[in-house]
Amino acid sequence: MRIPIHPVAPALVQTAPAAADTATRLLKIRILRFDPRQPETLPHWQTYELLDAAGMTLFIALSEIREKLDPSLQFDFVCRAGICGSCAMLINGRPGLACRTLTKNLDLEFTLAPLPVFELIGDLSVDTGKWMRGMSERLQTWVHQQEEAVDLRRLEARMEPELAEKIYELDRCIECGCCVAACGTARMREDFVGAVGLNKIARFRLDPRDTRDDDDFYELIGDDDGVFGCMSLLGCHDVCPKQLPLSTQIAFLRRKMVAMAFK
Ligand code: SF4
Ligand code: F3S
Ligand code: FES
Repeated sequence: MRIPIHPVAPALVQTAPAAADTATRLLKIRILRFDPRQPETLPHWQTYELLDAAGMTLFIALSEIREKLDPSLQFDFVCRAGICGSCAMLINGRPGLACRTLTKNLDLEFTLAPLPVFELIGDLSVDTGKWMRGMSERLQTWVHQQEEAVDLRRLEARMEPELAEKIYELDRCIECGCCVAACGTARMREDFVGAVGLNKIARFRLDPRDTRDDDDFYELIGDDDGVFGCMSLLGCHDVCPKQLPLSTQIAFLRRKMVAMAFK
């Protein structure tokens, strides 16, 4: 959902009571606020002031704001450890994980806004799950096997540790959505599968248990909503909090899919 920002919306300032610690940095956190369930209220920036503290992350700062200043502030967190991917937001305009961002590494004044591309739930909370599920269903991101019946007594097939490592490397994606939010193509093309989707195809392509071949993968990503929509902007690679090798994987996939196109 695209949010028009009202030019004259007032910036409200609220200040947390001084904390009993030695922090001297007074943070001014400007947060883009909007609740789509109340469309009569326009999107606007709201400023909160908070004393910095040793080891404070944006997760802690936002929780403190919600606890002490404004219980209506919406944002998402689950793991607080960079694992669940639910706390991604625009931090000074750049996608990142709030729970892995220390306030001491930010200027005294900074902005927080919801990730673009994804459906807005409210304030900093977006529905990445719905987008990821749609992408996942379109790309069929699960191991495809041809056998009719599953034999649960059968021993698991062995896999070389080097190959398992390569698959694991790509499997580290936490579906945070940062790569999608940083991608110009994703902003223009609603059905673009993003670096996250292309990375998943690269992952299943490596997996010997998946019986799909490049013909099958071409059917899934051989168009402008797939690998040929990528313009090599590399925003995805720059912001991925798990440092996945997205640029290499996309370039490799593109070469493979071009070969299929001219087969
Ligand atoms: Fe997040 Fe990286 Fe996965 Fe994209 S590829 S969803 S940035 S972890
Ligand atoms: Fe987008 Fe990454 Fe390609 S930013 S255009 S998916 S290289
Ligand atoms: Fe889970 Fe930030 S809360 S990644």
